[in-house]
Amino acid sequence: MASTSPEPAAAAEGGENNDPIHIRRLELSDHERGFIPLLSQLSACPDLTAPEFATRFAELATQGDDHVILVAEESSAPERWILATGCLFVERKFLRGGGKVGHVEDVVVDAAARGRGLGLRIVRCLVEIARDAGCYKVILDCTPELRAYYAKCGFVDKGVQMAVYF
Ligand SMILES: CC(C)(COP(=O)(O)OP(=O)(O)OC[C@H]1O[C@@H](n2cnc3c(N)ncnc32)[C@H](O)[C@@H]1OP(=O)(O)O)[C@@H](O)C(=O)NCCC(=O)NCCS
Repeated sequence: MASTSPEPAAAAEGGENNDPIHIRRLELSDHERGFIPLLSQLSACPDLTAPEFATRFAELATQGDDHVILVAEESSAPERWILATGCLFVERKFLRGGGKVGHVEDVVVDAAARGRGLGLRIVRCLVEIARDAGCYKVILDCTPELRAYYAKCGFVDKGVQMAVYF
């Protein structure tokens, strides 16, 4: 999976990008940059061995642009520690003339980096990718406490979430 900036407009501003934050797609080597510990701030996420991580990375790579994991890192930090992440997967439907729906999942910002707008930027990037992919909507599930945050990201209340857990 190539590492490309999903924020081309920002990169083009002023001819030089002085943004202290770089948002890009997940790389295989991000296993060494705190990606799993970051996810564990969201939900149970035991560490994966390097081969286990590589296997899952390769599986997801076969889905191409239908499964996008973005990460944010400090542009100037040599260790390139991952500060934030979020995922978009694209559901291809028969409905709506073969329409596509974007699902935002696994959004988390490192506790030490919250309140700097990273969560907002990651979600906005995912929504833009979904728009560019031709999705007619983007949906997500969240707790009531996060309603205000996702409202800031442009989402509105719609329906009721239901689940079966195994
Ligand atoms: C929720 C989370 C992703 C927000 O990330 P963040 O980088 O701190 O958020 P931002 O700094 O981009 O905040 C964007 C806006 O949302 C608001 N906001 C952020 N978190 C909020 C919350 N929990 N409740 C209400 N508003 C919130 C901010 O005040 C900000 O508003 P402003 O632009 O008016 O100042 C982060 O707190 C987190 O990782 N939490 C734990 C994991 C989690 O719950 N993930 C979501 C799973 S559905």
